Amino acid sequence: MSRLLVVENLGKRFGGLAANEAISFELQAGQIVGLIGPNGAGKTTLFNCIAGFYQPSEGTIHFLGKDITGHASAQMAHLGIARTFQIVRSFGSLTVLENVMVGAMLRNKGVGAARERALAALEFCGLAGRIAMTASNLTVAEQRRLELARALATEPKLLLLDEIMAGLTPSEVHEAVHLIKEIQLRGIACLIVEHVMEGIMPIADHMIVLDYGRKIAEGTPAEISRNPAVLAAYLGE
Ligand SMILES: Nc1ncnc2c1ncn2[C@@H]1O[C@H](COP(=O)(O)OP(=O)(O)O)[C@@H](O)[C@H]1O
Ligand SMILES: [Mg+2]
Repeated sequence: MSRLLVVENLGKRFGGLAANEAISFELQAGQIVGLIGPNGAGKTTLFNCIAGFYQPSEGTIHFLGKDITGHASAQMAHLGIARTFQIVRSFGSLTVLENVMVGAMLRNKGVGAARERALAALEFCGLAGRIAMTASNLTVAEQRRLELARALATEPKLLLLDEIMAGLTPSEVHEAVHLIKEIQLRGIACLIVEHVMEGIMPIADHMIVLDYGRKIAEGTPAEISRNPAVLAAYLGE
């Protein structure tokens, strides 16, 4: 296995609040890693640091052996890190196809090539029948898949997924799980923040648990689900 992402001693402070503190972990190429923890544990903040939306207060982030700490989000995208947002951020007035073309333009400067790339990503995400619709008219589940399609259209090596199963029905969760497995088969690694345990436990190769900004446990899903510190953190929520 080769190390894709190495986070060392990462910290992020907002004034006096340590949203992330001394977080270290590794993610191997092609791996699915689940990131869980109670509300406010610092999961989205960690994503924002890795994806270049926040400048870490301390620590380092290496991607493919390169120190990328503090790089801007556009550089991260070029290197192969793509993300979805917890709050869906599609361009509501654009069509589904146009939304995904925005992602595809990262590596395809010609409109024709970007269109092809976007159509392939939409087909993969089960949205081929929705390409001409305005994004704001999609269902919640479809909007989540649109976010995924846009991220995939950037041709990432690492995908950061932030609660893409929140608010989905059980059958929609099942479909999302299937889609993530398909993404992994394509060789793309995923770091997944998820509150829906049925969504993350069956597919994660490895789990990391945060509480109050710190990593309190990591291991296989089975190890995590019987870890006393993890159980205590969730009971206290
Ligand atoms: N931009 C910000 N400014 C100030 N505080 C923030 C900001 N983003 C997050 N926080 C705080 O950092 C802590 C962790 O938040 P977050 O990373 O969103 O947690 P999670 O995603 O695990 O629910 C919370 O206390 C939150 O209020
Ligand atoms: Mg969050």
